[in-house]
Amino acid sequence: MDCTVSLSKKKISEITSQSIAYFLPEKFTAKDVKSLVKECGVDVATYLQDVKFTGAKGSLTVLPVLDGKHFTHLVFAGLGKKEAKKLCFETMRRAVGSAVKFAQSKKLETITLCLPESSLFDVASEEFIQQMYVIASVAGYKYDKFLPKTDNKEQKLAISLCLAEKDQKAGTKGQKLGSVIAESVNRTRYWIDTPPSQLTPTDLADHAKKLAKEHGLTCTVFDEKKIKELGMGGLAGVAAGSSQDAKFVILEYKAKKAKAATLGFVGKGITFDSGGLSLKPAQYMETMKEDMSGAASVINSLVAVAQLKPDVNVVGLVALTENMPGCSATKPGDILTFYNGKTAEVLNTDAEGRLVLADALAYAVKNYKLDCVIDVATLTGACLYAVGPFYTALLSDNDQLAGKVESSASRSGDYVWRLPFNDDFKAAVKSHIADIKNIGSPAIGAGTITAACFLREFTDDTPWVHLDIASTAFNVPNVSYFGKGASGSSVRLLIDLAINWKK
Ligand code: BES
Ligand code: MG
Ligand code: ZN
Repeated sequence: MDCTVSLSKKKISEITSQSIAYFLPEKFTAKDVKSLVKECGVDVATYLQDVKFTGAKGSLTVLPVLDGKHFTHLVFAGLGKKEAKKLCFETMRRAVGSAVKFAQSKKLETITLCLPESSLFDVASEEFIQQMYVIASVAGYKYDKFLPKTDNKEQKLAISLCLAEKDQKAGTKGQKLGSVIAESVNRTRYWIDTPPSQLTPTDLADHAKKLAKEHGLTCTVFDEKKIKELGMGGLAGVAAGSSQDAKFVILEYKAKKAKAATLGFVGKGITFDSGGLSLKPAQYMETMKEDMSGAASVINSLVAVAQLKPDVNVVGLVALTENMPGCSATKPGDILTFYNGKTAEVLNTDAEGRLVLADALAYAVKNYKLDCVIDVATLTGACLYAVGPFYTALLSDNDQLAGKVESSASRSGDYVWRLPFNDDFKAAVKSHIADIKNIGSPAIGAGTITAACFLREFTDDTPWVHLDIASTAFNVPNVSYFGKGASGSSVRLLIDLAINWKK
């Protein structure tokens, strides 16, 4: 997209990049930089001592070296302290992020990352390379479609990964995995960053169709007429105020293995959330093109799955519509009937995510024999208050599945935090004139949890996890490898879950 990532087998002395990044743990020794001193012919140790670079977590220093004609920027990034004899892998991801962002900010065209050995972290070789590949690509992403092109040429940052000798054997496999995952994450971000009038439900469904064809996924698209015929009153009810046709997209990946488990991924795809008649204040509407993030994650994780071909079936279902206050819009007080026959009183049209997910979840559990269903949605503003921007909120009443998702989250770096979830919260969504209502109650609060209670009405007995990515999908601050705009949260997690699924 805005960068290319490749593996390099060069020695430091052979590297011709405009920048070379080197990663050092806290209290590194002269021995750690010895090879570098020798190979690049600079007294790096003295320089690092002079600028008091200690290898602390999050630190970065740059030494420009003139080789006669050009400067090479030697970038040093800190890896922090060891804990239980291992370095923290997230610190490594962020160090890579800082190095790549440095190269980007200086408009350099090339950077080589001299990666430390995977054994310093609690990660196997292949996984390490895969993740370094992904994080370098994520850091190199920039949404610049509408910015002027300098000198009329596309400037792409070329990132080379130089592996430690012991990791080189796993290089090819790690790179292959990494490139598939990276592409899915960045495509997700690109869709989210795209202005809302340029990515309508129809556009998004078309993208899904095209990718499905390219990668051998089965793709089914229902238009609004069919959505109404099927009785998806939630999705149709949200779509009523928009001039854009709603779509319901199903992508299916079938494993070669007979009797494979089947995972269901469900995504919220509101391509723009104005709030509907319960109109959002202007400031809250500014980023609401992000409200299709869940759907984008689901579609793109299926694209990755289709390429990685794990022994598990995966079905992706996404409900796509705008939420607009047009003259036929659903009104506060209206009651909608969903695919499974349940009814809900709509008291706030801005709580539309649960209305479209209700139909998608009900459709998923009725029409597929699922071993689990996971929905991903930018569902509640309350989520950011509950868990902050570095965690996706996880809600579930199934400990076993929640545990699996938590493992995938910590392995992939796509972090989740589980919130409480039990029947006590159900009272919040009780309605006097329908099965449920689409907002919670002040006495119970906990908007993220009560939204999940609403969804639970549509998952029957299928083990279910809800991921609220309203906290993580957009404008995550201070994490070096992200930047302003979309993060692609939950894509790495969903792919990890599919490729590592065990009964
Ligand atoms: N799309 C929003 C949630 C959101 C907020 C996502 C901020 C990302 C960032 C969702 O549709 C919404 O508006 N939810 C309401 C629910 C409320 C009316 C019960 C909210 O959170 O305010
Ligand atoms: Mg419409
Ligand atoms: Zn809303």
